[in-house]
This record gives sequence, C-alpha cells and structure tokens, in this order.
Amino acid sequence: MLIIDGKKVSLELKDELKASVDRYRETTGKVPGLTVIIVGEDPASQVYVRNKAKTCKEIGMNSSVITMPADTPEEHLLDTIASLNLDPAVHGILVQQPLPEQIDEFAVTLAIDPQKDVDGFHPENLGRLVMGHLDKCFVSCTPYGILELLGRYGIETSGKHCVVVGRSNIVGKPMANLMLQKLKRSNCTVTICHSATQDIASYTRQADILIAAIGRAKFITPDMVKEGAVVIDVGINRIDDPTTKSGTRLVGDVDYEGVSALASAMTPVPGGVGPMTIAMLLKNTLHSFERTHN
Ligand code: GUN
Repeated sequence: MLIIDGKKVSLELKDELKASVDRYRETTGKVPGLTVIIVGEDPASQVYVRNKAKTCKEIGMNSSVITMPADTPEEHLLDTIASLNLDPAVHGILVQQPLPEQIDEFAVTLAIDPQKDVDGFHPENLGRLVMGHLDKCFVSCTPYGILELLGRYGIETSGKHCVVVGRSNIVGKPMANLMLQKLKRSNCTVTICHSATQDIASYTRQADILIAAIGRAKFITPDMVKEGAVVIDVGINRIDDPTTKSGTRLVGDVDYEGVSALASAMTPVPGGVGPMTIAMLLKNTLHSFERTHN
C-alpha cells in the first residue's frame, strides 16, 4: 500500500513557495502578507493560528495576528475586516472559526473581500468553483490540498467514482465540486454521503476514491471499503490512549490499521491531509499577491 505522505509534500510545497517569495522580494521589494484574526481563546484555534503565523515566517511572508476578546461585538470585527480589505499590504485575510455565538459567521464571510478570501469561504469563490472558474477563485485549503496530493502522487481520477463522506461548507461541499470538475486531476463521478444517508457502506464500498470528512474517530471500517481504493482521511480526532504520555492520541475518520490492509493508497493521521492545509493557505496568499502585482 502506498502511504500518501502529506508532511513530505507540504515541505516540498513550502520550499517552492519560499523560492517564489524570495524572488518577489528581490525583484519588487515586496512580499505577500496574511492577516489572521482570532476571537476568543479556543485552545485548538490558538494552536492553528500560531502554526499559520510560524509557517508564514518560515517562507518569508509577512504575517500578523489580530487577537480579540471573546465578547467582541460583531460590528467591531466587521469594521476591522473593512479596514484590512483596503490595506494594500494585506493580501489574505483569515478569520479563524469557530467564532463566539454573538458573531454571525456568514456575515463575517460576506464581509471579507473575495479577492483576499484565502480561505475560499466567500460565496463568490465557492460559486466560481462550482461553475468551474478555478483560475479566478480561491479554493478552500483542505480540499485544494487533497487535490494537490492526488496530483503529486499521480493518482488517476478521471472517470473514477469518488465518494465524499461529509457535507460541510469548508470540506465536503468544495471537495465534491472539485472532484466533479472537468480537470485532469478530477473528472470523477461524485457521490456525497452525510449523517442522514441510509446504508452508507453501500455507497462507500463503490468508491474508487473515498474521502472521509465526517469528524468521527475511525468511522470508516474495512467492511466499508473496496479492495484497491484510494482512501483520503480528513479527520483529526483526539481519543483516549493510556499507553501514551499525554493519555490521548490523534486518529482520523478511518480505521487506519484495518483499512490499510485493503486500500491501494492512503493518507495517515497525523501527517496526511493536515500539513497540506496550511501550505495551500500560503499558496492562496501568494496567488492573491501575484494578482495585485502582475
Ligand atoms: N477553523 C478550522 N479550520 C479552519 C480553516 O481552514 N479556516 C478558518 N478560517 N477557520 C478554521
């Protein structure tokens, strides 16, 4: 079985991005800039945001983090976004989710200039993706990272049956639409399953490419997978494991031990899809910079 090594590919990508950023710094004196806003003190979000800022620095991009208290009024966040939309040194704006309950996430998504929406969450970007205008839109980073992994591993997709389990706006919906596109690395027949799907296994067993984005530990078991399938695991679930020092361990949405005996290729957790997400965020930020400087 081929292990699809997202950690290794993300390092290659970061080297490529760094080379581009270095070249722009030398030729224009300017570099791309990403601003991340975090509201409140969700510990997982704090880790994600720190990693985003650290990775920006590693590849020579400018990054700034705006931290706001959990009781920040929506108005204040929207005003901040409005000023970042006008700031020419800011090429990407990301508001970390989840947001506190007094803030309407969709209002925030709509407030970000689609040209700086490096998360690809704005309806204009998602709409362009659905309509196949991929050269003029930002694609949500996790699905975009999965497409990049399939491409770099030369995995044949055209005409294959791709089953996506999960229908979130961030992963499931953009993923399914990407795989549906008439592109070299897509062109699939696509099925989307979700929490109300009856007899999920009857669909997942038909998958040539199975993408699990459910958010439930080891949900996909070997009886749900066809022999030779390519299995992509988007899940990051922390489970109890008394044999480790911390007493917990990260696992995906797929039972790795069981399914790896059947699959032809598979992403591990950690070290599969996860490391690709930040790399694609920086790639989107670089594209935004290139649009304004070319
Ligand atoms: N929270 C968890 N993942 C993400 C992401 O990709 N973007 C944003 N904005 N928030 C998140």
